[in-house]
Amino acid sequence: MFFRTLSGRFLLLTIIFVMLAEVVIFVPSVARFREDYLQQRLELAQLASLALLATPDDMVTPELADELLKNAEVLNIVLRRNERRELILSSPMLQPVMFTYDLRDASAYELIKDAMVTLFINDEEIVRVIGRPVKGAGIEIETTLEIMPLRNAMLVYGQNVFLLSLLISVISSAMLFVAVRFSIVRPIRRLVGNMMTYQQDPEDATRVIAPQSRVVELRAAEDTLHDLQTQLTANLKQKERLAQLGEAVAKISHDLRNILTTTQLLADRIEMSEDPTVARIAPKLVNSVGRAINLCEQTLKFGKAEEAAPRPEHFKLAELVDEIIDSENLRDEAEGVKIRCEFAPDFALTADREQMFRVIINLVRNARQAMVATQGGGEICVRADRTPSGAELKVCDTGPGLPNAAKDKLFQPFQGSVRKGGTGLGLAIAAELVRGHGGTLELAETSESGTCFRIHLPQK
Ligand SMILES: Nc1ncnc2c1ncn2[C@@H]1O[C@H](COP(=O)(O)OP(=O)(O)OP(=O)(O)O)[C@@H](O)[C@H]1O
Ligand SMILES: [Mg+2]
Repeated sequence: MFFRTLSGRFLLLTIIFVMLAEVVIFVPSVARFREDYLQQRLELAQLASLALLATPDDMVTPELADELLKNAEVLNIVLRRNERRELILSSPMLQPVMFTYDLRDASAYELIKDAMVTLFINDEEIVRVIGRPVKGAGIEIETTLEIMPLRNAMLVYGQNVFLLSLLISVISSAMLFVAVRFSIVRPIRRLVGNMMTYQQDPEDATRVIAPQSRVVELRAAEDTLHDLQTQLTANLKQKERLAQLGEAVAKISHDLRNILTTTQLLADRIEMSEDPTVARIAPKLVNSVGRAINLCEQTLKFGKAEEAAPRPEHFKLAELVDEIIDSENLRDEAEGVKIRCEFAPDFALTADREQMFRVIINLVRNARQAMVATQGGGEICVRADRTPSGAELKVCDTGPGLPNAAKDKLFQPFQGSVRKGGTGLGLAIAAELVRGHGGTLELAETSESGTCFRIHLPQK
């Protein structure tokens, strides 16, 4: 579990990376150690052989030769001083020479390869080492020695390097661990902690984060979060105010509708008045009151935040449109408006019948109102087709087209209306009802020769 945390990951990775780096350093440094070891033996051998110079015939007693060789920790020494003169110290060798190492022009590759081979030698072997005498004391020095002491020294050295690497990696990982905890983990925890407290009450502005990190990336995250939270808190407050306002409007609409309904009853009576002036004004009064009641009712309906979920049923479109024709008084072209259906008489839909009635009647009424108001009549056409994903309905008219002011905010409540007496809710409600079915309502086209709305309804 610990290694799944950010600091745990860093700790593990640092140990792995430092150990990898140490392996890369280990091999050449062991090779270097071996070369130094051999070079040191050559120098000791050179010193030992120089004792021969003090004698007249370059010879010492076998006891002294033995002691000199022991001191230099080698078995044989040959120092070539010039082409003719050689100084030789030798002791009897129990075994033949196994390898010859010439250090004079050995490449790095050779040194590394020989060092690795040495590490794996297991028997008591004898090796010959050739080098250059130090301080120009001759042209070549050659010595033989046992390999085991060299191998053991190399193993001890390798072990030390390994332990040191381990120590370095543990110390550096621990330091990095502390650094990561302080500079990354702690600020991230603070960020997450703030998100959680903010989430509990996003309307409380005191819970908005105060950026304070000095790490650039974390500061950017804090700044962005700060902006986001400030904006969200402000939006939530505004939404709350709007909700309160909406509630107040709903209450006013409700009471106003009741008052207006009473007024309408009284106005109905005035219509029967004998007085010609009163009789002339009365219908206008009744109409105005009727429109005011309609506005109150629509506002109340819209105030019920969401429409009920659709209850789909299978019904014939022709029958639904027939009811709309009656409701909109289009049966006998009363206002010069004709209606035509372009779909098969048995074309059926699966949808909430009541809601689809409201959608289509809104579109038909808009078309009728627009044509009556501007050109005293026209034709409305209701089309229906099957599509691969459902059904497509179209309500088209030969009216004047949408006014520019209406186009921009067509489906937005209270905003799209430019019609006198219109509330601007019809299309917003229709679009919401279609959306509730998983479909879309859109303006297909509009021009001076007419307007066409298209509904797409998914069908199972
Ligand atoms: N077929 C159409 N032809 C021309 N203009 C249209 C048509 N349909 C809608 N409009 C315009 O779009 C506006 C918005 O229509 P919408 O139905 O949303 O509101 P409304 O009809 O004004 O009011 P209500 O809420 O009573 O329906 C209308 O005022 C009208 O100007
Ligand atoms: Mg309308």
